[in-house]
Amino acid sequence: MSHDFIIAQLEEHVLHLQLNRPQKKNALTQSMYQFLADQLKDANTNAEIHVVLLSGHTQIFSAGNDIQDFLQQSLHSPDAPVLQFLRQITHFTKPLIAAANGPCIGIGTTLMMHCDLVCLGEQAQLQTPFVDLGLCPEAAASILMPENFGHQRAAELLLLGETIDAQTALQWGIANRVYSAEQLLPEALKLAKRLAAKPQEAVRLSKQLLKQHHKAMVDARLEEEIQHFAKRLTSAEAQQAFRAFLQKSS
Ligand code: COA
Repeated sequence: MSHDFIIAQLEEHVLHLQLNRPQKKNALTQSMYQFLADQLKDANTNAEIHVVLLSGHTQIFSAGNDIQDFLQQSLHSPDAPVLQFLRQITHFTKPLIAAANGPCIGIGTTLMMHCDLVCLGEQAQLQTPFVDLGLCPEAAASILMPENFGHQRAAELLLLGETIDAQTALQWGIANRVYSAEQLLPEALKLAKRLAAKPQEAVRLSKQLLKQHHKAMVDARLEEEIQHFAKRLTSAEAQQAFRAFLQKSS
């Protein structure tokens, strides 16, 4: 299976999914979400795959959801590709690693809350401008962010839409390691392969135990956010923000 904008490679039991739409700053379309969701669904049960690594390009991880797509998207169907993707990363049972440099916007940051290890490049810029777009948090960020690094820091990201750099992300505990842009991918791959070589039943059980305490809460919040997000997408505030972005870039 392949996708025009995502490279999927399996090497030493590591499935590497690399976003590859640099001309649009790796903004994610519905078809990209669908491909990622399908890959994760398969990876969950495929014994050849022990670890999944998500990466972008050396200078861009992802500009988040494609804003043109936001104008057309409906989240009222449970099969919407983005919802399938969100549920897959939330319920993924094997280690998920992110390697990100440059802008990591919207879901480019919130997906990190579901990763077990996060490697950032020195120029990583994390930002979740949901409020500025007339939207609200997604990917259970409204519970995972305050739980992981405190309400006030979460408010910097989720209310102010502030951008944080790699060192701040490291301090806040979002990232495990920071590398130069050139070292990022080789080091993240090394880490992924190290994990992929460990006893897999023990790894999966340990991940399950690590996440068990808040699983029900995270699931419930994910679904609650989706209800709000679906309504916000068609709100006047959001539609105006999407048009403003698209006019700026046309
Ligand atoms: N959706 C759709 N297209 C996007 C996009 C997005 N989220 N982000 C970038 N693009 C497109 C731009 O429209 C532009 O397309 P064009 O060349 O056809 O005009 C191209 O990608 C390059 O983007 P540009 O803004 O010129 O690059 P930049 O280096 O100046 O800035 C970003 C990069 C990522 C900081 C900036 O594009 C940005 O802020 N994007 C929007 C992020 C966002 O709000 N995402 C939604 C999160 S919920």
